[in-house]
Amino acid sequence: MNPQIPTAATTHWRILKFGGSSVARAENWPHIVARVREFSQQGQPVVVVVSALRGVTDRLQAHIDDGAQADNAVLLAELGQRHRRLLEECGLDPSALDETLAALQTFLDGEYDSSSPAKQAQLLAFGERLSSRLSVARLELDGVAAQWLDSRDLLVSFETESRSRRARYLSARCRPQSDPAKAKSLAKKSRVWVMPGFIAANPGGETVLLGRGGSDTSATSLAAVLGAHTVDIFSDVPGLFSADPRHVPGARLLRQVGFREAQELAAMGAKALHPAALIPAHEHGIEIKMHQTDRPDIEGTRITPAAREHGAQVKAIVQRKPITLVSLEDIGMWQQVGFLAAVFEVFRRLDLSVDQVSTSESNVTLTLDPDANVADRPVLEELARELGKLCKVEILSDCATVSLVGLGIRTILHRLGPALEVFEQRRIFQVSQAANDLNLTFVVESRHADRLVQQLHQQVIPGGVGGDSVFGPTWEQLFRNDAGPVATKPWWQTRREELIKLMDGRECAYVYDLPSVRAACERLLSLGAVDRVLYSMKANPHPEILRTAVNAGLGIECVSLNEARRALDSVNGLAAGDMLFTPNFAGRAEYRQAVELGLPLTIDNLYVLEHWGSDLAGQSVFLRLDPGSGLGHHKLVRTAGSHAKFGIPLSELDRALTLCRAHDIRIRGLHAHTGSGIMHADNWHRSLETLGEAARRIDSVEIINLGGGLGVPDRADELPLDIAAMDGGLAQLRKQLPSSVRIWIEPGRYVVSPAGVLLARVTQTKGKGDVRYIGLATGMNSLIRPALYGAWHEIVNLSRLDEGGNRVYNVVGPICESGDILGLDRLLPDSREGDIMLIANTGAYGAAMASHYNLRAPAPELTLD
Ligand code: LLP
Repeated sequence: MNPQIPTAATTHWRILKFGGSSVARAENWPHIVARVREFSQQGQPVVVVVSALRGVTDRLQAHIDDGAQADNAVLLAELGQRHRRLLEECGLDPSALDETLAALQTFLDGEYDSSSPAKQAQLLAFGERLSSRLSVARLELDGVAAQWLDSRDLLVSFETESRSRRARYLSARCRPQSDPAKAKSLAKKSRVWVMPGFIAANPGGETVLLGRGGSDTSATSLAAVLGAHTVDIFSDVPGLFSADPRHVPGARLLRQVGFREAQELAAMGAKALHPAALIPAHEHGIEIKMHQTDRPDIEGTRITPAAREHGAQVKAIVQRKPITLVSLEDIGMWQQVGFLAAVFEVFRRLDLSVDQVSTSESNVTLTLDPDANVADRPVLEELARELGKLCKVEILSDCATVSLVGLGIRTILHRLGPALEVFEQRRIFQVSQAANDLNLTFVVESRHADRLVQQLHQQVIPGGVGGDSVFGPTWEQLFRNDAGPVATKPWWQTRREELIKLMDGRECAYVYDLPSVRAACERLLSLGAVDRVLYSMKANPHPEILRTAVNAGLGIECVSLNEARRALDSVNGLAAGDMLFTPNFAGRAEYRQAVELGLPLTIDNLYVLEHWGSDLAGQSVFLRLDPGSGLGHHKLVRTAGSHAKFGIPLSELDRALTLCRAHDIRIRGLHAHTGSGIMHADNWHRSLETLGEAARRIDSVEIINLGGGLGVPDRADELPLDIAAMDGGLAQLRKQLPSSVRIWIEPGRYVVSPAGVLLARVTQTKGKGDVRYIGLATGMNSLIRPALYGAWHEIVNLSRLDEGGNRVYNVVGPICESGDILGLDRLLPDSREGDIMLIANTGAYGAAMASHYNLRAPAPELTLD
């Protein structure tokens, strides 16, 4: 036997599928050739399945849609030009496709009939016929001998009478069966084949198509025929994401998903993969690996039967739009036998496939599947007429579905509570939870869908950098800056010697790097769309920090009179009028004293106006509004939405205005603060939209205060908040406001967090069972954030910064609480008693929230300049 040609039993075909945008760009071809080589050099025969060049199928479809008006000569000229240009750019003979183009001309001049589904299929197939011929030529140019494979010989459709003629030609279905003899004979003839995707044959040998996006299905069906274990799908994205990255830049790459989840994701709107492609893969146990053609360095998504079950988890938030919603109302339908049958009969007659259904005693709500239907206006009018004979009908054609997708959704419904608050002010037409326990879907107005996806994503998909086997890096991390996040060296690495010296004779200390504070202030002051920046001193009221912030040009925001006094005492030249007092549930005396001191005041509760209004007569105040939903790194720091105690709900604004008028209180500004540790710029855009809308109703408003909440990355490889994007969006939005309105922000964390570190000596180490502990001289009495919010702070052994980590430790403090943990599962070098450990990013809400619990004094505070 020829050793070069393996037997069918040992031959594992590799199927590589390249999408339309991959094959359409000359600069992608070196990548495509490299992938094909790589696989074929592993000794496996390869089939390259290609889509039509991007846009070509659309162009052919437009020709069909134009019917008798369509101009054959124009179509031919356009397609000819498009393909010849690519041939040239690839360094190929521009006449290489002339034969196929001539066949197209003959077809158009002769048998083409725009009203026949069979002829439509033949016309549309030309896109892939052209791209596959081009692909053979391009591979050969680089010395990869490839043969063209006619997909119609391998993929044969099966049909049932119940499907329309149109569907049978244009979205045909195959039931591929393994064919070892075919696999063997092909492997003998060539090691590399190129096959057009999308195209199959019916049992009568006519050309049929597998539906839009059907090339993925061609690839997995072919894999089933040839007995391949894996299909590699290459496109212009690296895989499936936890949301559409165009709307949610923080969407995370899904590293691994199971078939059922992938199917649900694809069906519910994740565009990167065609849902039908998963059926043969599932049935034949074929693994799908998704990749980005020009970024072989990015690990894509694996869709595999062996995907590890990670327990119940929302993997993605997806939306589909436009969705047509049909609402049927009839009090008499309850218990009426055959009502639904009659309704569905109408859908069947009109060839409309129903997607989701929900019923109550007097209402049935259905949605139409946008992919499977041609629901144009005449069809919908007909539908309304026909259903109108049975009951009252309402058809809304501008809806969207927003779905949470993941295994075991049912078991985590209770955890979704806070996330679902985002629906508070939106109209929900339908909620459905699929029996397969994989999705929870809401039908809402189309215009709300993007926002809802963003908000739900932020609330239910874990943030941060990908350390787990399900969620990979975010889209931003992969693409915002192609070079990847630039990890600048933190200040404490540069100033390591000084820090070690500062610790002479000490057990623990907070150290603040004032130049870092100044640099953060400068970044904030450079925002063109922001007129004033206040430092929210609750993050860190250390006098040096206050002085540094004010000297850099920031004002001060405070939440108690003691904070106000601290600022006035610490900073020379600071006047009460330069500050803003934003109390929440403070007593009447505090409000009175604030007025006496001349502190500008923010009111966040109608009670204050209703009962103490007279104390505020003649004052100019800010009203703190609750824009309806909060964001933040943890639920405890989301300060808007119905569960949060802050702010005046928008529904009470009118009442607030009346009360202010009654007490002669002038509303000088509006304020909102949605939460803390927010990494997405559009949070402040949304606040500005909401406050701007409210401000239009109040002539006296001069200032819109968008609050703080600007997040900082926890980890070195996490991208920072894009403050340029924040600024850009604000600049756009403020154009819609009167030019006299000023914009303020009041961040705390952003100013001080990275500037601070907590240093603590190792007191002892311990191993108990499998777990090793490093004990520090201080714990949750100095830093409560890990215990309270599960916050993650980088921990290093400053004394052994050059030694790599060699063991996993829990880093704990000396407090009598099991929650006294500073970091779990940290890879650290073997540490000894007396070593100095550093806990990073602790300038904000560290010392400020410290306590004397167990009568252990928290770490003293030092500054470096
Ligand atoms: N403005 C108002 C009205 C606030 O309530 C807050 C923080 C800020 C500004 C400043 O937020 P920042 O820019 O620092 O995110 N202890 C929590 C943070 C609680 C924040 C409370 N309010 C933590 O350690 O994460």
